[in-house]
Order: sequence, then structure tokens, then C-alpha cells
Amino acid sequence: MAVKLPEKFPPLSPDARQFLSRLIRVDQAGELGADLIYAGQHRVFKRSRPSLAPLIRHMWDQEIHHHKTFDDLQNKHRIRPSLFSPVWKIAAYGLGMGTAIMGKEAAMACTLAVETVIGGHYNNQLRELVRILEEESRISRDGQASAELRALAKTVSEFRDDELEHLDTAVENDADKATPYVILTETIKTGCRAAVWIAERF
Ligand SMILES: [Fe+2]
Ligand SMILES: [Fe+2]
Repeated sequence: MAVKLPEKFPPLSPDARQFLSRLIRVDQAGELGADLIYAGQHRVFKRSRPSLAPLIRHMWDQEIHHHKTFDDLQNKHRIRPSLFSPVWKIAAYGLGMGTAIMGKEAAMACTLAVETVIGGHYNNQLRELVRILEEESRISRDGQASAELRALAKTVSEFRDDELEHLDTAVENDADKATPYVILTETIKTGCRAAVWIAERF
């Protein structure tokens, strides 16, 4: 008779497993996009406004860390990336370069729009994660929710804080002086929401 090895953690329920796959796929796509937006902005500003480059570089470095974290999670859990990854790369890099060419205010308005949507997106995921964690604790034998899910909640909450810090930076750096402010920010927000919707599914 085969010996059954003890499981390190209680297995995830199918619902939790599906949620985890979806979360990692969409967040990896989003952080890939954020990484490339700042790469595009940094490329322009390091020539046109070198004084602004270190601030962009700081936010970019945080996005590189977010991106790498979700790349690692994706590999660890063997979750396929969004089918539209090549589109996200081109769109994000173009958005970064385009807004930076428009000027500092437009680049900051881009950050404001993106981080407003992503901050809200991370908050929605956190609420859902907390609900799933409670459910998993209730049904597991030892009352312990998956360590994976707890670690993921911590990561999402840390990254949410970083994104909200980027939002504050954009506000402090004249995002509201971009022209045309409303058209620019609303267009970018709509684009981000559409990208989130697509990347969660495809
Ligand atoms: Fe990020
Ligand atoms: Fe960010």
C-alpha cells in the first residue's frame, strides 16, 4: 500500500484555486504594463528632463519588483500569462513614452489615472482574498487557511500601498495641470479597466 505523505498545507478548494490563477494572471499583466510605462517615461525624461529622471526611476524600480514578484508566482503556480501580453507591452511602453513627450504634467496624470484604477483593483482583490481566507479556515481540518493565500494577501496589500504612494507623487507633481486633464485621465482609466477585464479572462 502506498504511503500517503502529509500535506504541508491544506489543499486549496477549486474556487480558491480559480481565484488564485485569475489574480496572478491579471496582476502579472498589470505589473508588466506598469514596468513598461515607467521604462518609456524614463527613456524620454533622462534626455528631456534629467532632473525628473530619478523620481521616475524610483517608481520604476518599485514596479520592476512588483513585476518580478508576479513573474515568480506565475512560474511557481504554473499559471499561463495573459494571451495579450505582447499587446500590453507595446501599449504600455507607448503610453509611457507618449505621455512623457507631452510633458511632466501629462506623465504624472498618466500615473494618477493608472494608480487610481490599480489601487481600487488591488483593494477589490484584498476584500475577496480576506473572504476566501475566512472560508478556507472554516472548512480546513486544523482551522488554518492556506499559507499561500495568506502570503498573497500580504503581497497584494504591500503593492497596493506602493501604488497609492505613486498616486500621491503624481498629485504632488502637478498631475492636475495636464491638458487636457479630464480627457487624458478618463481615457487612460477606461483603457486600464478594459485591460484588467481582458487580462483576468484571456
Ligand atoms: Fe505596481
Ligand atoms: Fe505603480
